[in-house]
Amino acid sequence: MQNQRIPVNYGLPKIENLIPYVLNPFELLHQNQFTHQDIVEIKFRLSSMFLLTNPTLIEEVLVHKYKHFRKDVFLRERAAAVFGNGLLTSDGDVWLRHRRMMQPAFHKQRIAEYATTMANSTAELLAQIPRNTYIDIHELMLDLTLTIVGQTLFSTSKPEHMEKIKHALHAIMQRFGNNNWLNIIEQITGVILNRKLYRAYEVAIAQLNETIDEIIAERHSYTQQPNDLLGMMIDSRDDEGQPMSREQLRDECKTLFLAGHETTALNVSWTMYLIHLNPKVQLRLQRELRHVLHGERPTYDAIPQLLFTEKVIRESLRMKPPAWLTQREALTDIEIGGYLIPAGKNVAMSPYAIHYDPR
Ligand code: HEM
Repeated sequence: MQNQRIPVNYGLPKIENLIPYVLNPFELLHQNQFTHQDIVEIKFRLSSMFLLTNPTLIEEVLVHKYKHFRKDVFLRERAAAVFGNGLLTSDGDVWLRHRRMMQPAFHKQRIAEYATTMANSTAELLAQIPRNTYIDIHELMLDLTLTIVGQTLFSTSKPEHMEKIKHALHAIMQRFGNNNWLNIIEQITGVILNRKLYRAYEVAIAQLNETIDEIIAERHSYTQQPNDLLGMMIDSRDDEGQPMSREQLRDECKTLFLAGHETTALNVSWTMYLIHLNPKVQLRLQRELRHVLHGERPTYDAIPQLLFTEKVIRESLRMKPPAWLTQREALTDIEIGGYLIPAGKNVAMSPYAIHYDPR
């Protein structure tokens, strides 16, 4: 069967879609989602991406034909420069081995144990918030979720270790944030434009590695590991009975710090903002929380009763998905939904664009 022709969005003469994407990536994704049924090639001057606008095609890439793809150059090289070869940045056999070794971390019983840490850390933070003043909710939520990841990962860590990690991650994320157009151009082209930020970023990576290495070295001297994520990873063995090396442990720790704090902080911040725009939802949410929790701290067992709360969080994840774009690079020429993706090209999948599609 002949492959179908892929529509191309050339954008504006000379600059193609580069400047519109840098100025407002969401608008560009939105427009293309609405004007293309399955797929569109978006040109960016030096590169291009094939945006999949149909969930069936996305399923083909991520589920049925995943062996024909690898992580895109951003995850594989630029994110891996910070986070090493952890679950988020690795592929193939390395990914599969680690995924199996990390699986117990996401077991229901483990999650239930983390719930108490989450509720306690949140209560401590709430008690410290000054009343009748303006606060930056997102800064606060980043701090909270970092504390939570830190405690679930390294339950016995010293406060000075956590401070160093927070400081380093903050400096690293400055370079990857999408609120700065220099960063966005760097992400697309790979060319370093902001040298000062880059130097701070390099220092932060060294500091992050050093601190996590210190924690892991200390942990290896324990006769019994505490019941936290790092303990689970140190005790984990692969099919051949081999443990993770110190470098692998460090990479997975950094991955969990990154993957586990920025996303959740964004979700809670956006949820609060959206609730504030909708007082009726706020009232209903407060009523449910009072009714189920009776003024006590939330527990894991209470979650199934918090039905409206769950709907609010899901709707916030739909409207403002924290991970709004992910990409894979084709390893071979590969047919997806009747379209030919050439080897080496990127397919882009945007939860943000898909979530606004009436289909
Ligand atoms: C609202 C919260 C979250 C969102 C929206 C989110 C979103 C995502 C997405 C879209 C991916 C796939 C990325 C890709 O393959 O291109 C991913 C992977 C991952 N996330 Fe999350 N995440 C969230 C919370 C967390 C938390 C709390 C943790 C851990 C503490 C976590 C750990 C991971 C890990 C380890 C991976 C890599 C999994 C693998 O490839 O096997 N995430 N996340």
